[in-house]
Amino acid sequence: MIRYFRQERILALDNDSIGYAVYFNDAGYPETLYFGKRLSDYTDLLSTRGKGGALSYYDMATGKERTFADNYRADAPLEISPHGRSDKRGAPVIVRDASGSFVTDFRYCRHKIVRGAPELEGLPHAHGACETADIVLEDKRLRVRAHLYLTIFADKDVLVKSFRFENIGRKKVRLTRAMSMQLDLPHMDYDLVHFHGRWAKERDYAENPVPDGVQEVSSNLGRSSAEENPFVYLKERGATTDHGEVIGFNLIYSGNFKFRTFTGPSHALHITYGINDEDFEWTLAPGELFDTPQAVIAYSAEGTDRMSQTFHRFIRENLMTYAADRDYKPVLFNSWEGCYFDFDTDLILSYIDDACKIGTELFVLDDGWFGARNTDCAGLGDWTVNREKIDLHRVMAHCRERGLRFGIWFEPEMVNPDSDLFRAHPEYALGWGDPELSLARHQLHLDFANDDVVGNLYAQMKAFLDEYPVDYIKWDYNRIVSEHISQALPPERQGEVYHRLVLGYYALLGRLTSEYPHIMFEGCASGGGRFDLGTLYYCPQIWCSDESDPAQRIDIQFNTSLGYPLSCIGSHVNDSKVAPYATKAALALFGTYGYEMNPNRLTPEEIADLARMAEIYKKYHRAVISDGTLYHLRAPYEGNDMCMQCVSQDKSASLVLFMNKLKEPEQSRFLRLKGLDAKRRYRNTLDQSVHTGEYYMRVGLNLSFSWFDEFSHRLIVITEEN
Ligand code: DGJ
Repeated sequence: MIRYFRQERILALDNDSIGYAVYFNDAGYPETLYFGKRLSDYTDLLSTRGKGGALSYYDMATGKERTFADNYRADAPLEISPHGRSDKRGAPVIVRDASGSFVTDFRYCRHKIVRGAPELEGLPHAHGACETADIVLEDKRLRVRAHLYLTIFADKDVLVKSFRFENIGRKKVRLTRAMSMQLDLPHMDYDLVHFHGRWAKERDYAENPVPDGVQEVSSNLGRSSAEENPFVYLKERGATTDHGEVIGFNLIYSGNFKFRTFTGPSHALHITYGINDEDFEWTLAPGELFDTPQAVIAYSAEGTDRMSQTFHRFIRENLMTYAADRDYKPVLFNSWEGCYFDFDTDLILSYIDDACKIGTELFVLDDGWFGARNTDCAGLGDWTVNREKIDLHRVMAHCRERGLRFGIWFEPEMVNPDSDLFRAHPEYALGWGDPELSLARHQLHLDFANDDVVGNLYAQMKAFLDEYPVDYIKWDYNRIVSEHISQALPPERQGEVYHRLVLGYYALLGRLTSEYPHIMFEGCASGGGRFDLGTLYYCPQIWCSDESDPAQRIDIQFNTSLGYPLSCIGSHVNDSKVAPYATKAALALFGTYGYEMNPNRLTPEEIADLARMAEIYKKYHRAVISDGTLYHLRAPYEGNDMCMQCVSQDKSASLVLFMNKLKEPEQSRFLRLKGLDAKRRYRNTLDQSVHTGEYYMRVGLNLSFSWFDEFSHRLIVITEEN
């Protein structure tokens, strides 16, 4: 998969469908020659290098002007631009030493080709059938070594990039920017798609032409955020769901990030991606290493759906570590929207009984079971059961007797000032010492840059888990980071706080997931405020949004699925009044299905509807939704309706969900399906008729209506006729 053509000095990475090529020029810079569909000959690529305009420099040693022999130019496409020289596009890395200089200039030393992907210390990372080029570069003045890792996967159109920096000198240096990758593409004729938003409106679709100058998609909120998601993609102008070049990017990271495009006068495109350099500064003592998170790039020459499908498979097969991911995800009932903080043992037992009637397999007690947590003003930090309020042993026994699994809610990274933990250790709060600590939801962020704090939370959670063997944990995170000051770090290391908070999150989550491998963790952050690849490495599902009503949920769920597999998208039916339960349930089926309402209030008809939907989920989730292939047939951001279709790997079954927003009178509409076997015959539940796969894919499902109410849906099951 990775070959080195010694004579041409070209390193080529490819699999059956994509190819990537790097050239080591005379000046010692790795130039990016090619990224696209696989080539049969990579040695031919030298002719793509620009002609003329080679850079020259004044050589102090000889007192002479010298020109870079190999025609190296300031706008050459590079893997790592120098900083502080003539290349002004924006380097991915800046290192400073005691001299005060900003100049950072890594040159090629050697490379090797190794099996697998690098295992990063303390950071989640990709794994599986792949090969890595470990390219060693050095800044001789700074005495810093950089490993540029380029990993290509055997069976997926995915490239993973990251850097490792190593201080090989005798003095401290400071990384003031340490991004994960640079990618230089020969033109800027792309539209950039990114997903911005806010609480309850996560991942809104935004598409704009790559501009002249700079565009940044970033977070400085301390988490990957609802405001911008780290998943972005470039669409060649005119590309559609199944035509044209699309290049998707994501970062295996949960903290501040920055995806930056720069286009200069030549109109070539320069991309850097990685940890946001705002307030970032990392001291590297002699002998120390710094690993950047891995950036994941998915390439498609066949439109956006192919890119989405590649990310879905990559995340499930090459990122997640939860062993049971390939197993079925149970129908989940969560107590939150039914009773919030207002419950006792009897109420929860009655919830469990009624949740059973609608197919529940996992009952989750959300916020409010611990410490003095009867409102959101108190209790965070005190993870002992409030025995006066809830008899958890009884609740768990009740679940067991009914064949249900049991799960519980935690928010480990936070503390309320009104808590025993804060009273004993105020210095555990992040920012302690600042005269005004910003509160959000009456809570402070804990200083997860401090190992003692992480250790304290580990001990509390372990004590709980050893007494209450739960099957599931919902790990919440309900505020952004502010006053990023750690009492555990000296003044010159405060630029490390943002990143160390993320490392602390991974350390605790990593330790618990490896000590309790049977527990399924679900990520959450005020809904979907930390929906990212870093979290998915540990948690096979993430609560997608606190918004479950279809008016906004249609967009949130569809857009999330452009970059993330349905099997990780936590989706619940709630009691919002906008649409009937059956419609909300149909949407929740295209995710990990669950409920969040007062089940005591359901009418017999509603119970029957929901129980029927749960049966569909149990029958089809694993083979069709989870392991199947997802097609985005109609995008909600393009019109008044939305349609998704999933097809099982063996093409024997498919689920189609069509949903509209505003009312529609007299619509003629034929919905052409995808992914079926043209020759096989399938029955559909829309009108019970049987047609060939070819018919469904060429003629389409007849979805013409004389009247279609707002937020109505059709859930159509297509099954092969024997
Ligand atoms: C925010 C989450 O998104 C909700 O689902 C719920 O768990 C609350 N936090 C509990 O405080």
